[in-house]
Amino acid sequence: MNEQQRKEANQIKQENPTDVKSDLDSNLDRLKNMESDELIGKYFQSTYEPPNLKKAKKRRREDVEIHYDFSIPAEMQRIGEGKKFLIRTYGCQMNEHDTEVMAGLLTEMGYETTDNTDEADVILLNTCAIRENAENKVFGEIGHLKPLKLEKPDLIIGVCGCMSQEESVVNKILKKHPFIDMIFGTHNIHRLPSLLKEAMFSKEMVLEVWSKEGDIIENLPKVRKGKIKGWVNIMYGCDKFCTYCIVPYTRGKERSRLPEDIIQEVRHLAAQGYQEVTLLGQNVNAYGKDLEFEYGLGQLMDEIRKIDIPRVRFTTSHPRDFDDHLVEVLAKGGNLLDHIHLPVQSGSSEVLRVMARRYTRESYLELVGKIRAGMPNATLTTDIIVGFPNETDEQFEETMTLVREVGFDGAYTFIYSPREGTPAAKWEDNIPMEVKKERLQRLNALVNEQAKQAMQKYEGEIVKVLVEGESKKNPDVLSGYTERNKLVNFKAPKSTIGKIVNVRITEARTWSLNGELVEEVAEVL
Ligand code: SAH
Ligand code: SF4
Ligand code: F3S
Repeated sequence: MNEQQRKEANQIKQENPTDVKSDLDSNLDRLKNMESDELIGKYFQSTYEPPNLKKAKKRRREDVEIHYDFSIPAEMQRIGEGKKFLIRTYGCQMNEHDTEVMAGLLTEMGYETTDNTDEADVILLNTCAIRENAENKVFGEIGHLKPLKLEKPDLIIGVCGCMSQEESVVNKILKKHPFIDMIFGTHNIHRLPSLLKEAMFSKEMVLEVWSKEGDIIENLPKVRKGKIKGWVNIMYGCDKFCTYCIVPYTRGKERSRLPEDIIQEVRHLAAQGYQEVTLLGQNVNAYGKDLEFEYGLGQLMDEIRKIDIPRVRFTTSHPRDFDDHLVEVLAKGGNLLDHIHLPVQSGSSEVLRVMARRYTRESYLELVGKIRAGMPNATLTTDIIVGFPNETDEQFEETMTLVREVGFDGAYTFIYSPREGTPAAKWEDNIPMEVKKERLQRLNALVNEQAKQAMQKYEGEIVKVLVEGESKKNPDVLSGYTERNKLVNFKAPKSTIGKIVNVRITEARTWSLNGELVEEVAEVL
């Protein structure tokens, strides 16, 4: 279809919405009779290649380039004037940060944000593929959006994020939900203006997913959620290939941003008055490994420590790459906070081996010992998977004892969910669901008990809280986090929002603390 035909098609679309409904139906009929490769190869103009384990593992570092010359195509710069967008975010912090970038791109195109689907002209679903239930939520939402699309044919609905990087998901959308206007992957976010243009002027679904990771694009616009805490990507992708995990396929190979670009972004946030940054990566401890010079997370943190911003966090750490130099730098304290999220996944060395985590129970405990020695006040939290294929009762008990031995303050716990395309998905998922649920319940009971005990230690103490705003449950109460990442609710004037204040803890609950304001502003920088 050429540009002229597209314009005409769009004209027809606008003048006669019912035609779109019949278009959708006839699309659906055509699609139902096609095989998936036919669908992708012939009917749709696409650069889509499904995730491929062998290819992914043969990644070469030198393929990545950094671009500093991003700009929105001239013809798209005002296309959103008078229109609104809504982005739903389903995944991790990185996914949330991608939403901030897409919001930035749309805002630069003139769009305004809305949280009402009926008002939106563009709806994007920024998806997560980490477990099956994350995917089910998205398919549920796609189903809900169909009537809206039929009613408002000019509405553009896009599916992006990690699910778009999966072959089976793309096929399912093509077959079952052809009313979706565009699908794009995690490497194509900067292409949003051009993809949107294509979707607006084309009657066909726009599909652009790169199986191979893209370059690093600097200087993308961002509309950050809030002016107090900001995310900063330090690297993209993951090369760890834990056998259960889809992320190395959906996010591509590890690529580090240059230290000066990261430092500049953190400085810029500090200058804008941000009080906290969280450095982001799937495995931040691998930061720098792909750079052409010797540089790691320890060196980066040592630089960022000197920036005039009160709080610096980082996530997620991988125990395998957590080196002594980093512990030494973190021990210097200052704006580097006393909380480390260190996912362990299992307490059994044998399970860790088949998960390909590349550390053992013993080496994890050794690392915890080093962290505790260097940072005696640090709190540790973790992620744990239960019911991995072949996990025995004894192996699960090893997870329970490890949780006790480390004394985690909190943990995100998950039932293993097979992800198509990963090595573990080929193994029999042989732990019955009742057993998985029972293990999860026991683990959660232990985690909750430890979390509560950790909270009780704060009763009567004075802690520093970065005030974020009204508490979700009660607008008369403000809330924020301590340096060790504990949620605190307390009464204080609204003028304290965005500041760090002293709060005396009056009551400990399992996942939060209640307190009272000690003085108005504890720290002015
Ligand atoms: N990069 C981080 C975690 C990213 S995903 C790390 O390596 O620790 C967040 C958490 O989801 C993981 O730590 C793991 O506990 C969980 N997870 C990942 N894949 C999963 C799967 N297939 N089933 C269940 N939980 C999973
Ligand atoms: Fe997934 Fe493992 Fe990479 Fe974490 S380190 S994102 S669990 S492959
Ligand atoms: Fe989900 Fe992708 Fe993050 S799979 S957890 S959104 S990297």
